Amino acid sequence: PDAPPRLTVIGTGYLGATHAICMAVLGFEVLGVDVDPQKVARLNAGDVPFFEPGLPEMLSKALDSGRLRFTTSFAEAGAFGDVHFLCVGTPQKAGSQAADLTYVLSAASEFATHLDRRCLVVGKSTVPVGTAGELTRLIQAHAPAGTGVEVAWNPEFLREGFAVDDTMNPDRLVFGVASDWAEQRLRDAFAPVLAQGTPVVVTDLATAELVKVAANAFLATKISYINAMAEVCEATGADVHDLADALAFDNRIGGRFLRPGLGFGGGCLPKDIRAFAHRAEELGVGQAVAFLREVDAINRRRRARTVDLVRELVGGDLDGVRVAALGAAFKPNSDDIRDAPALDVASTLHTLGARVRMFDPVALDNARRAHPELSYAGSALEAARDADVVVLLTEWAEFREIDPEAMAAVVAQRRLVDGRHALDPAQWRAAGWEYRALGRPS
Ligand code: UDX
Repeated sequence: PDAPPRLTVIGTGYLGATHAICMAVLGFEVLGVDVDPQKVARLNAGDVPFFEPGLPEMLSKALDSGRLRFTTSFAEAGAFGDVHFLCVGTPQKAGSQAADLTYVLSAASEFATHLDRRCLVVGKSTVPVGTAGELTRLIQAHAPAGTGVEVAWNPEFLREGFAVDDTMNPDRLVFGVASDWAEQRLRDAFAPVLAQGTPVVVTDLATAELVKVAANAFLATKISYINAMAEVCEATGADVHDLADALAFDNRIGGRFLRPGLGFGGGCLPKDIRAFAHRAEELGVGQAVAFLREVDAINRRRRARTVDLVRELVGGDLDGVRVAALGAAFKPNSDDIRDAPALDVASTLHTLGARVRMFDPVALDNARRAHPELSYAGSALEAARDADVVVLLTEWAEFREIDPEAMAAVVAQRRLVDGRHALDPAQWRAAGWEYRALGRPS
């Protein structure tokens, strides 16, 4: 068999850094490339520039092995690699629902000028369906090796907080390829993962691109479905928590991504469903995924309804009300505050006159930078001191451990809005708290 391919990873953000580090630990020679010299320097020094459990240890291990390096030089990467993973970000375009492909297209066309021998460029970024085809033409036009450079697509499904495990032990691999050669190169590049028996779906480029957005759209839909049921529960006095429990026992439905509450945020689900709906409209099949607009609307309504619930609980006027906000990150085990429901709710409460004091176990610095108008505390209890209402916005494990009696001793009023259905209402009510959660009887 051929020698294992040497790998490059272009773009060392969340996805790229994780991929580069894990591949080196799996035994490949890996070169990570980024335009940001600071990021490159930090990674080379063993410092992961974002919070991800387990990743710093993996980075040390990879660097110690001598198989991993980071550089800012595209020329060096072009000369080094046999398989090049493109992991550049595709944020939402400013003032539009579409995905912004500027970074992907510019990175690819510049990088291609350094490709002078047969190699494979593998897209991992989440892109509108059709991008892989466009990239193939662009890269082959710019590469000295011309059609000797092939493009493949290998979508990434990793979750923040579980990035290492999701990369080392994925549920499945998807290879979008245009030739047998490309498939074989991908099999070589994932040999250690495939050896564990990981299922692989080999398909065309467009299908591989679609798998990613289709999966994220499904997950978002599932969350909004249960949150829509919460709205119905609110109107009838029913309990969405019990409803979700009962639905989850049906194996066809399953309980995952069926947790009601403040809804989804983060750097993926919200922008991906918008970009998908936008792309479908461009393709003339907007109707097919028009429901995603509704999924988005239900999700945004959760944030507004949470603000309403806080207002209701304090008697209708938020002016001067002291709010303890527990959580800033878009979900637990992450310091990511992109499109975080928690910060959205907190800053709306602030705008409506409330005095918000926020605590988060890891996202505090990010929150402070993005929302200097809010106050911050070093612990949940400190945030709760003299509060008129406590609002749980991100379901960190440590918040579940809070003793209702201990918190009762520091607040001005025992009022609680559990935005994530994370706490036990009976326990909090027994300690004298007025407990409220969307979709649950008061
Ligand atoms: C998601 C996908 O899960 C992952 O496969 C893809 O690669 C990237 O996007 P991530 O954004 O890291 O991953 O977070 P995820 O764990 O999916 O949670 C997304 C949001 O949904 C969070 O805000 C979370 O709080 C919310 N959520 C999740 C719910 O509100 N209810 C649920 O039942 C599950």
